[in-house]
Amino acid sequence: MSLLTVLSVILLHSYVTLSSDPDPVQDFCIADMESATKIQPCKNSSAATVEDFVYSGIKLPGIFSETGLSAKSVNVNVFPGLNKLGLSFVRADFEVGGVNVPHIHPRATEIAFVLEGRVYSGFVDTENRVFAKVIEKGEVMVFPKGLVHFQMNVGDKPATILGSFNSQNPGLQRIPTAVFGSGIKEKLLEKAFGLSSKELSKLRMKLAPQELS
Ligand SMILES: *[C@@H]1O[C@H](CO)[C@@H](O)[C@H](O)[C@H]1NC(C)=O
Repeated sequence: MSLLTVLSVILLHSYVTLSSDPDPVQDFCIADMESATKIQPCKNSSAATVEDFVYSGIKLPGIFSETGLSAKSVNVNVFPGLNKLGLSFVRADFEVGGVNVPHIHPRATEIAFVLEGRVYSGFVDTENRVFAKVIEKGEVMVFPKGLVHFQMNVGDKPATILGSFNSQNPGLQRIPTAVFGSGIKEKLLEKAFGLSSKELSKLRMKLAPQELS
């Protein structure tokens, strides 16, 4: 291999491994949520105030789901000041025994800090190996981009986790809902999971998409 080839491979590799959301080209670009056309994506910077860079919506947990989880995402959709900055945040609260069902963030790696409690946390790699353990208050765990991951409060008190993402809009796909609550043809799911149509209807009823914020 020529030196040039070696160099281009190295450069390409570092580009690929370093890239997440694109780098900003301005100090900031507060998303203009009013702009219907999206032709002018940034709020006029002369009109920016400190309030554009503060989000107060996660002081408290939100409404708990049937699985005992309240997850409040702080992404660009609720916090326009994050626009083009390549990161976002989440506060997740768990009731005792509460579960964050297996899910994926297609556009971001997540690093999660246990603020309170004991949480069984893990992910599954593309060889179906499970990397999971109970992490405690003060510990962090990383969930690589795009891999299925999950959490359960195994302590005897409520638990709280704070997470960061290297995307302003990580995206979220819950596996149960994506598979059984999305309207994939019944025959396919019956065959894929070896379910009777009765068992499948039960799952579908339970997993019809829930709204979230
Ligand atoms: C931004 O606001 C300033 C002050 O009101 C104004 O002078 C300027 O023309 C605006 N810029 C754009 C692109 O609208």
